Amino acid sequence: MATSTKRKRKKGSENWRTAKGSDIHELYELSVQDPEGEIGTIDRIWNDQRGRVARSMREDFCGTAAIAREWVKKRDDNMAIGVDLSTDVLEYCRNKIETGLDDTQADRLQLIEGDVLTTKTDPVETILAFNFSYFLFKKREQLIEYFKGVRDQLTDDGLFILDAYGGSDSFLEMEEDRDLDGFTYVWDQSHYDPVSGDVVNHIHFKFPDGTKIMKAFTYEWRLWTLPEIQELLLEAGFRDAVVYWEGTDEETDEGNGEWTEVETGEACEGWVAYLVGIK
Ligand SMILES: C[S@@+](CC[C@H](N)C(=O)[O-])C[C@H]1O[C@@H](n2cnc3c(N)ncnc32)[C@H](O)[C@@H]1O
Repeated sequence: MATSTKRKRKKGSENWRTAKGSDIHELYELSVQDPEGEIGTIDRIWNDQRGRVARSMREDFCGTAAIAREWVKKRDDNMAIGVDLSTDVLEYCRNKIETGLDDTQADRLQLIEGDVLTTKTDPVETILAFNFSYFLFKKREQLIEYFKGVRDQLTDDGLFILDAYGGSDSFLEMEEDRDLDGFTYVWDQSHYDPVSGDVVNHIHFKFPDGTKIMKAFTYEWRLWTLPEIQELLLEAGFRDAVVYWEGTDEETDEGNGEWTEVETGEACEGWVAYLVGIK
């Protein structure tokens, strides 16, 4: 969802891709995920809030479990659990584990095919809900139920880390594209209803040969705001709920990938923030 950078790729270049030869899960990871950067942010939040880093984590709505896979590589005593409903995406993830992790790393990563509302795991230090996946809970009661379940499954000093997006552009029906390595990622905010707050967003992929994968992913969400999410975290029993805001790169005037705890944000066109539910 970042600002577009237009770059032309010549036919025949190394990473030339086509719709037919592409896997949507791989394209998704290349487009919107940065597991090393995310773990840097998680470690920073942990150091800020608890003066140490976490070892055990659960990645809810894990999809390809890119962060969980990186987590078990990061430290020899890190363990991770990934939870997702989709058999298809977990299959992709299992292949990635087989080819990308050694046995000791793979042994410290458990995948659960299940619903985050009903899956119960032993307490972990940190639970993640990234790429706005919990926005699919459109009613306050549902979101509180999910948040309560998360809180119950954290250790006594646990932290729940989730992200959110917003800004004036998030209320518009618009498309944004970014040229990546051999393909174009399209974020399509196809529908926004100001009465309910409901949005329908699609991800499309386009290729240099003119082929396309339209609606590779579709998200029907409620566009929750930061104060609403903070209030619901407190209602669910978290002791505190704080917001981390991204700093600005002075040269480009864009986000610099460094988040710090703040009391106030900035009324910009588009932002991504992290929230932390503190148990
Ligand atoms: C937006 S993707 C997020 C993937 C990944 N967390 C990320 O950061 O990019 C949402 C994922 O949530 C999963 N999902 C949707 N509803 C779920 C539920 N109730 N319980 C568990 N997983 C769910 C979908 O199968 C999908 O893989």
